[in-house]
Amino acid sequence: MKGFDPASSFGATVATHYDDLPRGDEGAAVEFLQAFAPSQSALEFAIGTGRIALPLAATGMDVEGIELSRDMIARLHAKPAGAAIHVVQGDMSTVQMERRYGLVYLVFNTIFNLLTVDGQIDCFANAARHLTEDGVFVVETAMPHSWMPSGKSDYVHAEQVNLDSVVFDVARYDPVTQHLTENHVRISPSGISMQPIVCRLITPGEMDLMARMAGLQLVHRYANWQKTPFDAQSTAHVSVYARQQGTS
Ligand SMILES: C[S@@+](CC[C@H](N)C(=O)[O-])C[C@H]1O[C@@H](n2cnc3c(N)ncnc32)[C@H](O)[C@@H]1O
Repeated sequence: MKGFDPASSFGATVATHYDDLPRGDEGAAVEFLQAFAPSQSALEFAIGTGRIALPLAATGMDVEGIELSRDMIARLHAKPAGAAIHVVQGDMSTVQMERRYGLVYLVFNTIFNLLTVDGQIDCFANAARHLTEDGVFVVETAMPHSWMPSGKSDYVHAEQVNLDSVVFDVARYDPVTQHLTENHVRISPSGISMQPIVCRLITPGEMDLMARMAGLQLVHRYANWQKTPFDAQSTAHVSVYARQQGTS
């Protein structure tokens, strides 16, 4: 999408409404993540408004974050418990914190927000760089095919069809760049609004290779936070990576 700037896709308007409709997986995600952080320290890549970080911190976990959008950080820090969460503004594939963590995690399909193979490889390397010797990197994301209805690479998906308004996605997938270019369109009596986003879709296998390049290896893969076994019907996965033996 010509002119698209990933840094602007979570700007002031999106940040203001981000928490209006919670995704609903927060409790299950926190329970899952807590079990993988016995050292009680965690770093969230792309922490956003603290949807997961805040309830995780409420369990007693020391949570910090990296986040690209100043508007999302401002929303997090405006919340009662949010001001106490240390966040560094910048790109999760390059920003370096001053310490290591027992858990680094990246959720809600956000590995796809990095639009180049190098950016995604660097993200795994940066996660590995921040892990303690026995730490784990948890990534939760969709299966690419589940985002393309009927296997089509160009599609319009009706999200809401009301008497006086419609909300729909117009999307196109490019298998060369692996970019899914999408515009979320709302037409209502108050006008037309558009929310564009570009994602680079990668499969679990590609992620496992990126992890290996970073000195990590897959230790668990589930279909969701409830640990349903991952299989051919799965539309998403939660993958847990630990250091390959003998690396640090
Ligand atoms: C779908 S939201 C997820 C936010 C939060 N993790 C959650 O689960 O609610 C994606 C977030 O990723 C951030 N983001 C996108 N690219 C990023 C990057 N390269 N580095 C850090 N944050 C990034 C966006 O600004 C946005 O806050």
